[in-house]
Parts: sequence; structure tokens; C-alpha cells
Amino acid sequence: MMKLYDIYPLNPIEIVKGQGSYVWDKNGQVYLDLYGGHAVISIGHTHPHYVERLKKQLDQIGFYSNSIEIPLQHQVATLLGEVSGLEDYQLFLCNSGAEANENALKIASFHTGRKKVIAFEKAFHGRTSLAVAATDNAKIVAPVNETENIIFLPFNDENALENAFATYGNEVAAVIIEGIQGVGGIQVATASFLQQIRTLTTQYGAVFIADEIQCGYGRTGSFYAVNDEGIQADIYTMAKGMGNGFPIGAIALASVFKPWHGQLGTTFGGNHLACAAALAVLEVMQQDQLLLHAKKTGDYLLAELKKLDKIQEVRGKGLMIGIDFAPELKNFRQDLLLKDHIFTGNASPNVIRLLPALTLSETDADLFLEKFSKRLQQY
Ligand SMILES: Cc1ncc(COP(=O)(O)O)c(C=O)c1O
Repeated sequence: MMKLYDIYPLNPIEIVKGQGSYVWDKNGQVYLDLYGGHAVISIGHTHPHYVERLKKQLDQIGFYSNSIEIPLQHQVATLLGEVSGLEDYQLFLCNSGAEANENALKIASFHTGRKKVIAFEKAFHGRTSLAVAATDNAKIVAPVNETENIIFLPFNDENALENAFATYGNEVAAVIIEGIQGVGGIQVATASFLQQIRTLTTQYGAVFIADEIQCGYGRTGSFYAVNDEGIQADIYTMAKGMGNGFPIGAIALASVFKPWHGQLGTTFGGNHLACAAALAVLEVMQQDQLLLHAKKTGDYLLAELKKLDKIQEVRGKGLMIGIDFAPELKNFRQDLLLKDHIFTGNASPNVIRLLPALTLSETDADLFLEKFSKRLQQY
């Protein structure tokens, strides 16, 4: 019998059904989902509008290649421009977060003719060749991915950034940053650091890439997390929440970037079904004002979590929240899952990550807080 290539540590749970912020396992046990399948479920599991739009599209046509007109792609671009407020940007559609970052970095290099990329300690940008090289985790960088073109600097360290640009600023193609580091443990970039990246990249002719794959797409209450600080990047990369589970990624590029035929490409990117999924998500986000909702619910959760003792620190913005807990509480997250039936994410060393659907209701937020604080009292 063919076996799976065993790379994922698994929870002993088989999910068979989802609705809104809830999922059910094969035994009928219901779970409150504060993890959203790793920040992917943006408008809730099996949202009726999403299901209907995908079914209808599947009945018409699911896929044809990028060699023909696909008006749905223009519809995604128009609506994305509207919802994100960046209507003069251009859209390239691909299939995943890593692919989005890989392409963003390539564009920066094509555009500047340069090779160096500044990334930050604890960054996670994906597992493809250049994206993984810009990821601060030596364990997942294969020898063939190693390159001297990536320079890692401490996160939020303005002096280090200033010095780096003073030393080799004219060789820098791009600075890539997550407005809030996800895998890195919910570390929020300061407004002044982002502003400094903006200033220095402009001054030295480098490209500012905002990796919005986890922190973006409305999660913080602002469509792109870095824009929350009034800062505009040159390229935004996105994936996760974009398709509410349907694999789709994209980059939004400022108008200075000039495309030429064949510069980028993908077989699957921008296919009919993926566009239908992306449109359904954006339509729900717009109609239900999910950015506002995410901010409101997120602010509430953050404020309430900060009141709890036995927690070391609570960080984040909107519905991207990190909770630092003491090492003695190492079984806490597993207890939340197996005893309280609540899905959460983690980050090392001892961080619980909350990445729920943007539709999370206040009632469900309260239910989470109640179960969470009760469980804390057991320790
Ligand atoms: C900030 C960030 N960038 C890139 C990626 C890679 O995305 P994907 O797994 O879709 O390739 C992730 C995934 O966790 C991420 O959190």
C-alpha cells in the first residue's frame, strides 16, 4: 500500500464537516475553530454564498488555461482594488503563499536589476527556493536553497536597517516583511519601523514587499496590515484567506512595475474556480463589512485576554492574536483542543495563535473566553 510522505505532526481528529466558526469530527463532536485551518478560513466554513458560487462555476467550467480571456480575473482585480482601497495596483494570480512571495521577489529583482534581499529574523515566507531562503529557519532551507543574497536583520531594529542600507543599499532589490509575523509568534512591526522601510527603499530605489499572506486580507481590520500604519508597500503578497480554503494566491503590484509577456506565469493561477472562490470571499467581505467586524471582535478579544492572569503577554491586532504562556502550561493548548474542543494555533516557544474566521461572532468570542479562562484556572 502506498504511504503518505510523513511530514505533518497530526492531532488525532478527523474533521468531516464545517459551518461558520465550527467544525465537527467523524464522531459528531463539535469544535469551536479559533484557528481557521491556519488563517485560511476567512468568511467561515461552508459559507452559503461561497458554496453556491463555486457550485455554479463548477457546473459552467472549472478550468481553462491562461491562454484565453478569463473575465473572472478582471472581476477579482476590480473588486480586490475596491475592497483594499488600492485600485491603481495590478494583480497577478497564482496558487499559494510561497509562490506569491517567490514571484514578488523575482519582480523586485527584474525591476531593479539587483540581487540582495533584506528579510528579518523569525520571518516565514514559504518553502519554495527564494521564499525559503528569506525564511529564518535553517532547518527547512536545503543546501540548494542557500544563497548569500538574503540579509537577515533583527525585526523592528531601526539602527540595523539604517546601517544595512548605508553599507549596501545600492545592491538591495527588496525588503520583505510581514506586518505582523505569524510563525515568528505574532510580533507586530512598529509604525516607525515600517515608515523607515518605506523611506529607505524609496531613497535607494529598492522594492518594499509586504507579505500579507497571514496578517493581511482584512484580518487586522485593515485590508493590508502595513496599511493600518498609513504606509503603502510596492508589492503586497496574499494567499490564505483569499479563497476561504480554495488554493489561490496573488501579488498586487504598484503601477511602476511594467509587465512583459512571459515575465511570470502559472498553469493553474487565476483559473475559473479559483476566481469564483476569490470573488465569493470579497463579496461577503464587502457586504458584511468584515474588516470592521474583525477589528471590533479582535479588539474585544485582545482587551478581555489582557485581563486574565497566568498569561505572560497578549499581542496582535484585530483577529491575529498571540498569547504568551509560561512553559509550565505546555499542555494547555492540547487540553483546549481535546477537552474543551477549541482549535487554536501555536508558535514557538510558548505562544498560542488565534486566527479565527473574520466572521467570528461576539457570542463565540465570549464562549471562547469563558472556556479559555476556566481551563487556565485548572493550572
Ligand atoms: C507570512 C507567510 N508567508 C508565506 C507563507 C507561505 O504560504 P503557503 O503555505 O501558502 O505557501 C505563510 C504560510 O504560513 C505565511 O504565514
